[in-house]
Amino acid sequence: MVESDSLDQISGRHMLSVVAGQAGIRPGDPDWADFERRFDRHFPDLSRLFHSLYGSRPDFQDQLTSLVIETARSWKARPADLKVLDTEREGSSDWFQSNRMLGGVCYVDRYAADLDGVRARIPYFKELGLTYLHLMPLFLAPEPLSDGGYAVSSYREVNPRLGTMDQLRDLAAHLRANGISLVVDFIFNHTSNEHEWARKAAQGDPHYSGYYWMFPERTMPDAFEQHVREIFPEDHQGSFVQLPDGRWVWATFHSFQWDLNYSNPEVFRAMAAEMLFLANQGVDILRMDAVAFVWKQLGTPCENLPEAHTLLQAFNAVCRIAAPSLLFKSEAIVHPDEVALYIDAAECQLSYNPLQMALIWEALATRDVSLLAQALERRHNMPPGTSWVNYVRSHDDIGWTFADEDAAELGINGFDHRRFLNSFYVNRFPGSFARGVPFQDNPRTGDCRISGTTASLCGLEDGSAEAIRRILLAHSVAFSTGGIPLLYLGDEVGQLNDDQYALEDGHEADSRWVHRPQFPAERYAHRTEPSTPEGAIFAGLRRMIAVRGSAPELAGTRLIPFATNNPGVLGYQRPGEGTRILALANFSDQPQVISAETLSGFEAEAVDVLADAPVRIDQGFVLRPQDYVWLRVVPAG
Ligand code: GLC
Ligand code: GLC
Repeated sequence: MVESDSLDQISGRHMLSVVAGQAGIRPGDPDWADFERRFDRHFPDLSRLFHSLYGSRPDFQDQLTSLVIETARSWKARPADLKVLDTEREGSSDWFQSNRMLGGVCYVDRYAADLDGVRARIPYFKELGLTYLHLMPLFLAPEPLSDGGYAVSSYREVNPRLGTMDQLRDLAAHLRANGISLVVDFIFNHTSNEHEWARKAAQGDPHYSGYYWMFPERTMPDAFEQHVREIFPEDHQGSFVQLPDGRWVWATFHSFQWDLNYSNPEVFRAMAAEMLFLANQGVDILRMDAVAFVWKQLGTPCENLPEAHTLLQAFNAVCRIAAPSLLFKSEAIVHPDEVALYIDAAECQLSYNPLQMALIWEALATRDVSLLAQALERRHNMPPGTSWVNYVRSHDDIGWTFADEDAAELGINGFDHRRFLNSFYVNRFPGSFARGVPFQDNPRTGDCRISGTTASLCGLEDGSAEAIRRILLAHSVAFSTGGIPLLYLGDEVGQLNDDQYALEDGHEADSRWVHRPQFPAERYAHRTEPSTPEGAIFAGLRRMIAVRGSAPELAGTRLIPFATNNPGVLGYQRPGEGTRILALANFSDQPQVISAETLSGFEAEAVDVLADAPVRIDQGFVLRPQDYVWLRVVPAG
């Protein structure tokens, strides 16, 4: 009897011999053996996943063969230094769990003019301790309406204002030589309407019309829209926009971003080729944009469908064969149950942590940590081989993505609470310190999100010590709960809102530009003067980065909850060998006491690692308003 495993292997071997010839690889080629080994290991998965998406099509076998040929070609073209990296990372698959990992994100043009400018900032990145740099979308995109680059018209060309693909490849190598991994977006849910495929589709080419969701009249759009939510209601109502020839095309985001039709296996193959092309330029991590939306099914909300996961796993299997050191980071800004489903070593190894991000702001507004503590307790720990990317804010808006069920358990009504948070962060709530602005205010549903830089949302406009402490407090959580902390570059010197954003061509209708200012040169110039707000914020963050890097307890993501018995103070433990880091963060405006009894599970002698000073905790512990400590404690034994 033949086991199904070995059957898979037999058909895999047959496939391999077919494709190798077509891809121009011959057994005996130096890295053939590596390809063969990875193929044997991952082809069964790829074939199963691809079959589950496209198996009912008569041309399934041909589609799969073509996909594998592309994979082999890409492997053949993969530069030798990346192949060395592939082997290294296979041997240390937890490299991204290190407590020395620190991320930064910026727009190439706004932060550094162009790719050469980014390269010139590497010394600063090293001063800061960055090991991960996310460059916002830098591919060819229509101007000025490109959604900040998220409407891509060619994945193989760099926007000429920023540089060339050769320069990107050089930059990737240069960053790597300096210990910094390059992260770029894989914007695979949609293309720009100026992408060649979209142009051909718009001209009526039936082949390329099949790359998008195009319908001759409203019957299907109407049927889909019954169940689908509006993402950018200020741009257009519903999910479809009309073409000059009368047809309707799916556009989840802006009208110029057309959703790709992944029910067509050719779209999968075409995008797999673009993905492998990017991988071969030396990109370490792909930020998988808008993952929730990639699969559509009539009669469903067309978000987070099971096939979206199958699709990501299939892309992942392609990488395991042809670009094995590449990682995926999921951008799923959805219900926390759904966020978690994208996180898996075989799907997205990394994920934004939008719940923690939103709840840090929630706790700052309410001065109550209950929701944040609950989230850490039940939604933080994650599977082996994966990690969070923890952030205080991103280039996008803040959406209040906590689960209504979780809130209800604490007696909080989700709808009302979101209204409160929105009014607090746009400074309409009495006593609010925040200077945010609304994003995608939808009067029909009452939905709204928030734009603003970290400093402005903390109220640094008034230059107050409280604002500085809030900024540091927020980062202290993102830097110590577990996962890769990600800084929006410029926030480390307290950059404020850009109130002039609407004057820039194409930005006037999108308030997210308020928190995407140009490189704050003045503020950076003050970063080493501790008496300035910039200097105080920079010094506080630098201290956290240094301490984090030397505290082995802060590696990985594992977290043990800690009940502070004080609604204003967040607590959690990060376990190491024999010791733990106990983090305490006071979100209230008053000094708070953590009682001796609450701390009685630990030995009396602890070390405040940020202050580098011994402390006794057997008489309780006092935190000043908006203060945080990381205590190295020993569980009482
Ligand atoms: C992602 C990006 C966001 C963009 C959207 C459409 O959510 O982060 O900036 O508008 O995708 O690509
Ligand atoms: C929505 C989407 C998210 C996107 C954001 C941009 O929240 O779910 O993917 O980043 O809109 O505003």
